[in-house]
Amino acid sequence: MSLQLVHSGKVRELYDAGDGQLLMVASDRISAFDVVLAEPIPDKGRVLTAMTVHWLDELADLAPSHLVTADPAELPAEAAELGGPAGMAGIAGRAVLVRRAEMLPLECIVRGYLAGSGWKEYGQSRSLHGTPLPAGLEQADRLPEPVFTPSTKATEGHDLNISFDEAVDLVGKEMAEKARDLCVEAYRRAAAAAERTGIIVADTKFELGLIDGELALCDEVLTPDSSRFWPAEQWRPGTSPPSFDKQPVRDWLEGSGWDKQPPPPPLPADVVAQTSERYTTAYERICGRRLADWYGAAG
Ligand SMILES: Nc1ncnc2c1ncn2[C@@H]1O[C@H](COP(=O)(O)OP(=O)(O)O)[C@@H](O)[C@H]1O
Ligand SMILES: [Mg+2]
Repeated sequence: MSLQLVHSGKVRELYDAGDGQLLMVASDRISAFDVVLAEPIPDKGRVLTAMTVHWLDELADLAPSHLVTADPAELPAEAAELGGPAGMAGIAGRAVLVRRAEMLPLECIVRGYLAGSGWKEYGQSRSLHGTPLPAGLEQADRLPEPVFTPSTKATEGHDLNISFDEAVDLVGKEMAEKARDLCVEAYRRAAAAAERTGIIVADTKFELGLIDGELALCDEVLTPDSSRFWPAEQWRPGTSPPSFDKQPVRDWLEGSGWDKQPPPPPLPADVVAQTSERYTTAYERICGRRLADWYGAAG
């Protein structure tokens, strides 16, 4: 029997593992400006997986999660086939067994700083997901309080930022309030921990799901792909701080003259290597662990 592919996303593949479980495999694919690039970033999938497992562990007393195991020895034997010639070694550290959840139709974003689409909306209407904000805030400014700013989960095209009341319309008042409280507290804790390592978590996106009727943290948690991490020493309100991880890729693409329509130009090997190193550094700095100690990582 081989594992049935049930979903192939920008970064992850999901396979049906039976018994209400899924095998979730994080690839080394990277996207920039909403386009997936051709070159994999070595160890990126392992970094995303290791960070998620770290945060799920840190937040375990706050909420249950979908994680069953990340230990390659506990994965279904068929998973070895997915690793190609490398067998189980190929997916060690990037594959996790999770419980299948009934996902909320929301991207549960929490913002502590004014960036991205939040900054854009503020410039247009001095509001954030429909809620008015004080005047005079600058790009990258810290918000008075972290705010739960959900969006829809678009199956095609861009997610749509919505207000809290619109989230209530989608999932009900009780569920929306639970999701908000959980995510804001998870953000507060993670942001405080990251701050001690000199990293600002400007914003992050959680995906929650129901498992046995309980709200659980699913998908990836507080990774560079789901969060804006800024080096604190380069944060200056009024400017756009560099992204901790993807900046070498973004800078090179900006300088290449590419029109941001697919196909993207091939990334030079040194940009790939620098980006891989930045992902590894993000994990080691923020989580205080060595990637070499994570399953299957070259380190
Ligand atoms: N426990 C779970 N049960 C069901 N679906 C999940 C679970 N955890 C994550 N997912 C879904 O798996 C997918 C992960 O693949 P990814 O490559 O991140 O996709 P996307 O391109 O949609 O971000 C997402 O659609 C996410 O909502
Ligand atoms: Mg995703």
